[in-house]
Amino acid sequence: MKLTIQLSLIFFLLMLVNACVQQEEKDPVEQQVSSLLAQMTLDEKLGQMMQVNYYGKPEDWNEQLKNGQIGSFLNLSGVIDANEVQRIAMEESRLGIPLLIGRDVIHGFKTIFPIPLGMASSWSTEMAEGAMEIAAKEAKAAGINWTFAPMIDVTWDPRWGRVAETCGEDPYLTSQLGVAMIRGYQGNNPSDSLRIAACAKHYVGYGMSEAGRDYNTTYIPEALLRNVHLRPFKAAADAGCLTFMSAFNDLNGVPTSGNYFTLKTILRDEWKYDGMVVSDWASIQQQVVHGYCETDKDAAEKSVLATVDMEMASRCYDHLKQLIEEGKITEELINERVANILRIKFKMGLFENPYVDETLAERVTLTDENLDYARKVARNSMVLLKNEAQTLPLKKTQKVALIGPMTNAPHDQMGTWVFDGDEKNSITPLTAFQEVLGSNLNYALGLEYSRDKSRAGFTQALAAARKSDVVVYLVGEEAGLSGEANSRGIIDLPGLQSELLSELSKTGKPIVLVVLAGRPLGIGAEIDLSDAVLYAWHPGTMAGPALTDLIFGDYSPSAKLPITMVKGAGQIPFYYYRKNTGKPTDPERMTYIDDIPRNSKQLSLGFTSLHIDYGVTPLYPFGYGLSYTTFDYSEVSLSSSELMMKGDLTASCTITNIGSVAAEEIVQLYVRDLVGSLTRPIKELKGFTRIALQPGESKEVTFTIQPSDLEFHNGEAYVIEPGKFRLWIAKDSESGIASEFTLLNEQK
Ligand code: GLC
Repeated sequence: MKLTIQLSLIFFLLMLVNACVQQEEKDPVEQQVSSLLAQMTLDEKLGQMMQVNYYGKPEDWNEQLKNGQIGSFLNLSGVIDANEVQRIAMEESRLGIPLLIGRDVIHGFKTIFPIPLGMASSWSTEMAEGAMEIAAKEAKAAGINWTFAPMIDVTWDPRWGRVAETCGEDPYLTSQLGVAMIRGYQGNNPSDSLRIAACAKHYVGYGMSEAGRDYNTTYIPEALLRNVHLRPFKAAADAGCLTFMSAFNDLNGVPTSGNYFTLKTILRDEWKYDGMVVSDWASIQQQVVHGYCETDKDAAEKSVLATVDMEMASRCYDHLKQLIEEGKITEELINERVANILRIKFKMGLFENPYVDETLAERVTLTDENLDYARKVARNSMVLLKNEAQTLPLKKTQKVALIGPMTNAPHDQMGTWVFDGDEKNSITPLTAFQEVLGSNLNYALGLEYSRDKSRAGFTQALAAARKSDVVVYLVGEEAGLSGEANSRGIIDLPGLQSELLSELSKTGKPIVLVVLAGRPLGIGAEIDLSDAVLYAWHPGTMAGPALTDLIFGDYSPSAKLPITMVKGAGQIPFYYYRKNTGKPTDPERMTYIDDIPRNSKQLSLGFTSLHIDYGVTPLYPFGYGLSYTTFDYSEVSLSSSELMMKGDLTASCTITNIGSVAAEEIVQLYVRDLVGSLTRPIKELKGFTRIALQPGESKEVTFTIQPSDLEFHNGEAYVIEPGKFRLWIAKDSESGIASEFTLLNEQK
């Protein structure tokens, strides 16, 4: 009996070894990884796990590169230096392992596109991909082969400075755009000479930093983590994103850069992710500051066990050798980490092609084609919020007063996270308006910059307004008021911008308000004083031409909000996929603070969930955006009122352009699960598409719904639960007439 068991065990082990060998034979990359790993000393392995912040000259790094002590540089930008450090690593070290050269190429390299929140307003996966493809070319030409993007954190909080870098509040839209950006950076073959590795960041939950204060703690129950925050990262992993970046925040008390549950249990074991995880800047060491680890050595142990492969900018992983000697970790664990790093380098073809053609930059950087594309993306990212009495588009024959601190701000119009963009390439609104209007332009700054508290420019601004037919007033935030570590508690217009608007409104001239900002601002009062409002975010290098394209009607605005615009910080957090609660407020029957009688007792005009000053509706809802035309939506027709577990159903709607100008419309599909084993959101985005319609033209849009689209995590498991659902095909998250269908438990 015993011999039989032994023989069976031997047979099983032989089968297992054979399977692994076959796997490697099947996959040459795995074979290359194993073969190289087998030649490496422990020191060389540990060297691969270090990402070092570059400074000085290549020769300053000779010793460390020759000894194989560096796996990657970040913040090296310049093809000459990049090629030289690669040459030292390839030709003067024992094993010749190439370097990953990483940089934050977030929304462009030299040609700067709108900030990601602006790009997300286009709801265009095509443009997101096209923009990042250009960014990849320009970055590669500068010797960079890895970007720390896309940032696919979901957030509900415009106070958070990094909202500028997100795709907004919705996990589905963020997933679609994030995957498109990854495709843009990596292409279908990341070893292509014009492609770079992408990095899905910041894994995970960083967008829920309490109070919108950057780096702050996050508490996210597992159902919310899985139904919202993990979804874009799962999409990124499935799309083959080569790397992930762990984050700064502690999640439910455990720092995300040492979080075994999110990194090992979910990312590695559940999702089978075999890409590379890099920490954020010193986020491994910050586990000590969090009070989660006592020493840097403890921090190294937590992170390496959680499967963080590479340490950015701190040196905790210098303790890994000692941890092996103490038996706290094994060299096998190090081999797994290093295999992930080598796998990326092989997939990127860096061993065969580590160097970049030094003449490439002149062919691919800041080309007319790149700039035209940046203009197109910027034009499609500006959201028309208001247009009373068709104030817009303006005529080129009108006398226009162009006023405001954002009219001639070549640095600020590019927005946050611009390391390599140069303001000298910016075409400002002032330049573009001068080109269009010539002598019909009356220009006055009014305020020097967004935080300016001086009235010195008011007189000149008011004079310009008085001698014009219409005022175009450009307000917003300097780029430095958003981005990392730049969270704001007050989300109003800074400085005296509002005061100047109030003065301008007294001239009686029509006012077009244009906002260039890194977050949705609470500008209800300013919008009331304006006849038309265009929310332009920070539009990038081509801000000026993109703006005049829309303002003078060469194109109609088509962008839609990727994030709710709240009335003020007091409404935060506010997101469209909120819960119904047990006492919902009917927006039609809202009551307000002035409706409450004096000397009233504990009386409320309706015991429902709202703020008695703000009500329960935002300034503008997710998905909202106007056009120069009007689109009519027909009733939705369903292929059936019943959906089987193995079937699908289609929902169709005919959209007609009933206005007088050609335009594009972003049609949105929302679904509501009426009853669930957890309370369910009142609406969830399940699809969207862009259509272009000539005046009078109609198009039928059809979406297909499958039971898998209705899956959610109920805190214990992913489930698809039979029951009643509502469905909308609409122009935004607050519009449309609901249709109903029932998901049945029966098979088809
Ligand atoms: C920063 C950011 C991260 C960036 C990294 C490298 O602190 O959190 O998004 O990629 O450091 O610059």
